[in-house]
Amino acid sequence: RRTAALISGRGSNMAALLAAAAATDFPAEIVLVAANRPEAAGLATARDAGIATESIDHKPFGRDREAFERALDARLNAHGIELICLAGFMRILTPWFVQRWLGRLINIHPSLLPSFPGTQTHERALAAGVRLHGCTVHFVEPEVDAGPIIAQTAVPVLPGDTPDILSARVLAQEHLLYPHALALVAGGAVRFVPGAPSGRVETD
Ligand code: GRF
Repeated sequence: RRTAALISGRGSNMAALLAAAAATDFPAEIVLVAANRPEAAGLATARDAGIATESIDHKPFGRDREAFERALDARLNAHGIELICLAGFMRILTPWFVQRWLGRLINIHPSLLPSFPGTQTHERALAAGVRLHGCTVHFVEPEVDAGPIIAQTAVPVLPGDTPDILSARVLAQEHLLYPHALALVAGGAVRFVPGAPSGRVETD
């Protein structure tokens, strides 16, 4: 499946996807890396790996989120994209875009959803005193950090953890989890079930 990774910054998850997808038997091919910030460091990583990149700066579109998304959607279609991986993409997508890509749009989030949606997940996990934290890959639905869960990895919260230490422990697992989850979706082992109640994935 022709897959795009959307990034806003460093792009370490995108790099992990590129590395995994380089294997000939991987069911997805990352053919495009697109960023909403021209300065996103991950764009250079993708270029160095010989992957097509698109930089679609959201700023000229001002508050018109849909206008930005129409431009993004046009580029995705121009590259024949079938599946999108949000990988540190720090821009909330409107229901218009999400509906267009429903079931073909997945995201990685640095917590065990439904705990800690939103930002600063590691700080909040430490403040809450949880003993297990982790990461989640899920299908994107219009509500932020919601949608059927595809795969999760838990990590322990250890004495002396700081947000940085905990974040590094989670990030190492994100880099394993995201390629695994993408393979499940691209290979058809996990499917989005529209309109069904919570837990709307089918697995083989
Ligand atoms: C990751 O922790 C991801 O889960 C979160 O933002 C971070 C992006 O890191 N949404 P990177 O750009 O993939 O290195």
